Amino acid sequence: QAPIKVGMLGMGTVGRGVYKILTGNADLITARAGRPVQIEKIVVRDTTKSRGVTVPDGVLTADAAAVLENPDIDIVVELMGGNEPAKEYILKALKAGKQVVTANKDLIAGYGKELFDAEKEHDTDLMFEASVAGGIPIIRPLKMCLAGNKVTDVMGIINGTTNYILTKMTRFGSDFNDVLKEAQALGYAESDPTADVEGHDAARKIAILASIAFNTRVTSRDVYVEGITRIDATDIKYATELGYIVKLLGIAKERDGEVEVRVHPVFIPGSHPLAAVSDANNAIFVAGDAVGETMFYGPGAGEMPTASAVVGDIMEVARNITGGVNGRISCTCFEEKPIKPIGL
Ligand code: NDP
Ligand code: HSE
Repeated sequence: QAPIKVGMLGMGTVGRGVYKILTGNADLITARAGRPVQIEKIVVRDTTKSRGVTVPDGVLTADAAAVLENPDIDIVVELMGGNEPAKEYILKALKAGKQVVTANKDLIAGYGKELFDAEKEHDTDLMFEASVAGGIPIIRPLKMCLAGNKVTDVMGIINGTTNYILTKMTRFGSDFNDVLKEAQALGYAESDPTADVEGHDAARKIAILASIAFNTRVTSRDVYVEGITRIDATDIKYATELGYIVKLLGIAKERDGEVEVRVHPVFIPGSHPLAAVSDANNAIFVAGDAVGETMFYGPGAGEMPTASAVVGDIMEVARNITGGVNGRISCTCFEEKPIKPIGL
């Protein structure tokens, strides 16, 4: 069978993981997608840089047109990060009728309307499972499995870097900056880790989750944000003495049609399930009127877990291509709900 062709934009931490899964699990992927899924081109800044995997000659390129203007490419996978040129490239790909998969929470949280409008206009798919909580399935469950619920609460640990830092500070008394460097080396942190430690990465993610859960449009600009840079050894010591653990939480609620969204450090009782979520793991509670309380737990950042979510999206659109259907499930039918101002 003719392969379904993938063009990747970016091959850093996550891109390398996607490459490993698509090549290493090729037989399984062909069987499940109905056709082989083949990486045709990968756009990077520096084609000479060592990538830790062997990429065939001619696949790496610094020319984005080799993906965006290539009629052979069916699926564009954006793993560059940041706003531009990622947004411009995604819009071009959607306009060209290509299916798009991204892990870019900055874009989904900041420019979701523009992107989902383009997805609808060009009758294609924009998938973003990896944009929240790394390897944990949460976007699809909220959009699909829990779609019959009136969701009232979404709350949890949604940044791996800060959870890793707080875990090491609590368990070993480690220095904040030393542990941040470790998180960067492990591929958990954003290219500018300020977004992680100041809470903006978690704000983007809770905005995405709140938008889907409450069927409204919440952007990162609507979220009250406080990061962990002012947490020091004394806070951790007092928390421990009192039987609490410090965690950075994203919290979203809908009450009487009004939405509240915030990110800030919280003292959690040591007996609470979130207190046991360590290292770069994430955990998200979702409460719905029919289902009750559910919890989603797992690795929230890093090469292979995040790539797992990206490849899941690639597989979904690949199956749709094989079956000749468009399976668009995006959130393009929002109601506008008021956002409650937060002053803590
Ligand atoms: P990296 O910084 O490791 O990789 C970025 C890649 O994009 C690099 O290959 C880089 O090229 C390429 N790139 C960046 N800018 C350009 C440009 N202007 N033109 C061409 N290529 C470019 O990022 P990650 O892999 O960590 O993250 C990718 C995305 O996934 C981000 O949106 C991030 O927020 C998201 N994400 C990351 C997670 C993680 O755990 N790391 C988890 C969940 C989501 P070169 O290599 O040549 O520099
Ligand atoms: N920097 C992010 C984190 C990556 O630490 O959670 C996963 O989105």
